[in-house]
Amino acid sequence: MEQRAYGSTGKQFPILSFGAQRIVDAHNCTEEQAIRIVNRAIDAGITYFDTAPSYSNGQSEERLGKAFQARRKDVHLVTKTHDRTRDGSLKLLEESLKRLQTDYVDEWRLHNVMTMEELDRCFAPGGALEALIEAKEQGIVKSLSISGHTNPRVQLEAIDRHPFDSVLVALSAADHFIYSFAHEFLPKANEKGVAIVGMKVFALGKLAPWYEKALGYTFSLPISTAIVGMESMEQLERNLSVAQSFAPMPETERVEFFKEIAHLANPEVLRWKASEWTSGQWYVRA
Ligand SMILES: NC(=O)c1ccc[n+]([C@@H]2O[C@H](COP(=O)([O-])OP(=O)(O)OC[C@H]3O[C@@H](n4cnc5c(N)ncnc54)[C@H](OP(=O)(O)O)[C@@H]3O)[C@@H](O)[C@H]2O)c1
Repeated sequence: MEQRAYGSTGKQFPILSFGAQRIVDAHNCTEEQAIRIVNRAIDAGITYFDTAPSYSNGQSEERLGKAFQARRKDVHLVTKTHDRTRDGSLKLLEESLKRLQTDYVDEWRLHNVMTMEELDRCFAPGGALEALIEAKEQGIVKSLSISGHTNPRVQLEAIDRHPFDSVLVALSAADHFIYSFAHEFLPKANEKGVAIVGMKVFALGKLAPWYEKALGYTFSLPISTAIVGMESMEQLERNLSVAQSFAPMPETERVEFFKEIAHLANPEVLRWKASEWTSGQWYVRA
């Protein structure tokens, strides 16, 4: 698999990374299957794993912890805090470390910062950013990050205010049509040398019928890697095979792909760009 630089961190990762939200009972993935999928991913060269304490009440973290065991040093492990306060975030981190059976995480992320008001809360005295900085100073976390999938202006503001090592943002082909991180966020983030991680590659499964093109589109963007949610061995093998034979998508093919999927650009499908998850109304920018 093609390896790319991870911003200015000096690290490199393959273009395909692992989103671990779905290796849980709620997605009909047993613990035994989860452990096998994760180990197969590592054997195939995947090194970057994304999880969060909020994924199935910690079950995603717990399973990664069990799967890594002796392989902890071979992987780049990312978890998050959805709490916007310092104290709440530090408590979440302590619990994450226990579930992940480790004493450090490679990257700790402010999870899903949707609005400027939420960003302000994270940056306020006693806010979550203080926890991130403290944990990094203590060596418990090695690098800092933020994620968002709604309004690129919020993540642009975040990288202006703080030198995050990476940012995780929504970069599916369907995201091209509204509040586009590809257009509004990537150029400036790349200029600053921030590592960019793509998500929503399959628009929560809606782009599954076009899975090769969906991966090809996102891998063709100027990003470091993309975390893809995979919940079965079959999905992992298919995505590995696309990543292993990846060649940049020509512009002509990209336009034809946009035409095929334009009908998906609505707030029922792109829920992460809706005002509320199931509101059916677009998020409105101030
Ligand atoms: N704000 C945040 O920080 C945030 C938010 C959400 C997610 N995440 C992270 O991002 C990761 C990816 O999640 P996402 O929300 O971006 O979802 P996604 O990757 O767009 O969609 C994942 C879904 O696509 C389908 N899929 C995957 N490979 C396939 C294949 N080869 N063929 C057909 N279908 C395939 C599966 O859906 P089926 O169920 O249909 O099989 C899978 O559950 C998560 O695991 C999590 O780690 C972060």
